[in-house]
Amino acid sequence: MIKLDTSNVLISATEVTALKEASMKAQHELENGTCAGNDFLGWLHLPSSITPEFIAQLQATAQTLRENCDTVVVAGIGGSYLGARAVIEALGNSFAHLTHDGKNPTILYAGNNIGEDYLFELTELLKSKNFGVINISKSGTTTETALAFRLLKKQCEEQRGKEMARKVIVAVTDAKKGAARITADKEGYQSFIIPDNVGGRFSVLTPVGLLPIAVAGFDIARLVKGAQDMEAATAVSVPFEENPSAVYAATRNALYRNGKKIEIVVNFQPKLHYFGEWWKQLYGESEGKDGKGIFNAAVDFSTDLHSMGQWIQEGERTIFETVISVEQPEHTLLFPSDEENLDGLNFLAGKRVDEVNKMAELGTKLAHVDGGVPNMRISIPCLDEYNLGQLIYFFEKACGISGLLLEVNPFNQPGVEAYKKNMFALLGKPGYEKETEAVKARLN
Ligand code: PA5
Repeated sequence: MIKLDTSNVLISATEVTALKEASMKAQHELENGTCAGNDFLGWLHLPSSITPEFIAQLQATAQTLRENCDTVVVAGIGGSYLGARAVIEALGNSFAHLTHDGKNPTILYAGNNIGEDYLFELTELLKSKNFGVINISKSGTTTETALAFRLLKKQCEEQRGKEMARKVIVAVTDAKKGAARITADKEGYQSFIIPDNVGGRFSVLTPVGLLPIAVAGFDIARLVKGAQDMEAATAVSVPFEENPSAVYAATRNALYRNGKKIEIVVNFQPKLHYFGEWWKQLYGESEGKDGKGIFNAAVDFSTDLHSMGQWIQEGERTIFETVISVEQPEHTLLFPSDEENLDGLNFLAGKRVDEVNKMAELGTKLAHVDGGVPNMRISIPCLDEYNLGQLIYFFEKACGISGLLLEVNPFNQPGVEAYKKNMFALLGKPGYEKETEAVKARLN
């Protein structure tokens, strides 16, 4: 199991256990479906509800894409994209996008920005590829994703022909509503449903995450197994002290109440960069509301020790860190000895790169704790599907509990609509005439 170490959080254990009862209450509310946002609790027992037959169905579709594509573009944004990317990048070769291994399709991403150069360059690159598309949108109407999909669909049909396009375009969307559903049904695309009661940022263990992860060549059954085991390990019947999600949720809330308003999630493995992005969205969208919420940021160490490191060590003391530590890397690389020793690094000759990395991690922890930065540490044995499955469910469960401890609805995101309304008004979207007038008046 993953391990959570809260021995360096710089607050007393009683401040955390003071939240034990509230945390148990939150867990019971989640379990009984009596909490705020209770129409979005489908993620809670999602892992244990996934059947081998469903996994086989996903794998079969993934196989069709793998057999017919050298490149697959995953179109989606926020919860409809970050979970898949987090897992694929954590498990894949760091240079997978540059080195096609002949076994697995290259996975690219679109629909998560509106950068004209990005989309232009992507469509240029795809001209020489046998590509497919997974179009992921729960609402089926998200502008960023819909715009990218319009471009990709046209290009795929023109390049590969309508018949092949129908084979290599897959939709993951709502069962009935939204443009993505209408298009999928009309064009006869293979499609998967995002359950109504699973919000975007909690959807990585639905086809939203599982299909792209399977297409990339990873073992989704092991990922689900990890999540299932964590579902059991964080069940409402597990005592507070033994439930890592409950302890993490209570600890971060105790820190927040102590004036620690910023949480950084830290990795010492570049492959976890997108896992940090996924975490950031999960917690940021779930808790930042009603004028409350810890500000979430994700950093890559030791890279960011040379940028944000100064602020973290000596800036305003409102920050704490949660380190995701990977015990064993997949590969072994030793520093060579050098006769001349011009760089003075012979004291490291024969040592593994990871040994140096681990000392950087330990040294950073000691420095940050000395600097007044509470430190939590989550360690996982290695980066594989099983451990990532555990980690995903661990954070999801903790997020649900934590949001309820904060007394917000962790499962909505009303604030995300504000920019969309203005953007549609500015673009003159039909139905937004009144808003267009109001926005124009403001800008004049
Ligand atoms: O967590 C969320 O609900 C959001 O981040 C959504 O996933 C994101 O806005 C994309 O929405 P959709 O899947 O409807 O395109």
